[in-house]
Amino acid sequence: MSILTEIKKPVEKEMDEFESYFNKTMKSEIPLLKIILNYVLRRKGKQMRPLLVFLTARLNGTISEATFVAATLIELLHTASLVHDDVVDDAHERRGAISINALWNSKIAVLVGDYMLSKGLLISVEKARYDMLEIVSEAVNSMAEGELLQLQKARKLNIKEDDYYKIIISKTAALISACTATGAISVTDDPDTIQLMKDFGENIGIAFQIRDDILDYEANGLTGKTVGNDIKERKITLPLIHSLELASLSQKREIMSIVKSRKKTKAEIDEVILFVTVSGGLEYAELKMNQYRDKALAILDSYPASEVKESLKRFVHFTTSRNK
Ligand code: IPE
Ligand code: IPE
Ligand code: MG
Ligand code: MG
Repeated sequence: MSILTEIKKPVEKEMDEFESYFNKTMKSEIPLLKIILNYVLRRKGKQMRPLLVFLTARLNGTISEATFVAATLIELLHTASLVHDDVVDDAHERRGAISINALWNSKIAVLVGDYMLSKGLLISVEKARYDMLEIVSEAVNSMAEGELLQLQKARKLNIKEDDYYKIIISKTAALISACTATGAISVTDDPDTIQLMKDFGENIGIAFQIRDDILDYEANGLTGKTVGNDIKERKITLPLIHSLELASLSQKREIMSIVKSRKKTKAEIDEVILFVTVSGGLEYAELKMNQYRDKALAILDSYPASEVKESLKRFVHFTTSRNK
């Protein structure tokens, strides 16, 4: 049994129900939209965010309809953000298949992303869960800022470690923190609990994105995404930031000239990957990732032993050990 299937156990029934809840939202009468929404639905992702919503809700109370609203809303926004992100990153592969922008085109991908995004927001309005709408809208707002800050840094190539954290907190941790916040708010109104769960999600989210950035350097064939796409897009992430800090001036010049160039050969991308690997950039990123993982685990430790707590622990470990 896969690790995620194990982790799902305490909320297995809810995750099954979520599936049909989610599928129902991905419907349209517009023929082209219908085809694309079907294409997206057939290649679902790991669904870690809805799982985190349900587990957090269970940890703090009894799962309610509001928990389903949160899980659906968040997975819709996440999916929309991936469709848009592949346009921004000029990525041609997603979930082991051709991305929407590559298979159709960017115009279509932008509009399909908008469709899913607005659908998500509408669900919370229909169910009158304005508390969820507020949390998730803030996350989406922050994601746009994060992606723009990242683009700006990729143009100027002047990114420092602090900028990196700022980017990943905005573009990734904000939504994962919205998972734990909405999960909590769907079962309790205690402000301290909600804040604690927000912090829990933020730490998971930071670790999650560092792992994603490490995976961009590891050709494991499992991510369903193209290795080295970050370098290709001039995205300088934590492994490279650290390796550049340790490099000699001439080494730094050589690597930066590759990163800067508009067209890169496979050999050049491999050279950067090798440079980062031998100079310990991946190990450093792993070290930092584990610090955030441990912060998340420390928050969990304030809860008494339970099956759902064990699952969340394993969820956190999976975030940092996953290969896809
Ligand atoms: C990918 O998220 C986007 C990042 C924030 C790195 P996931 O790895 O959760 O994507 P799916 O949904 O499983 O495809
Ligand atoms: C996360 O960053 C993307 C979003 C927050 C939407 P990446 O650009 O690294 O994500 P992947 O690697 O394309 O999934
Ligand atoms: Mg991307
Ligand atoms: Mg990535």
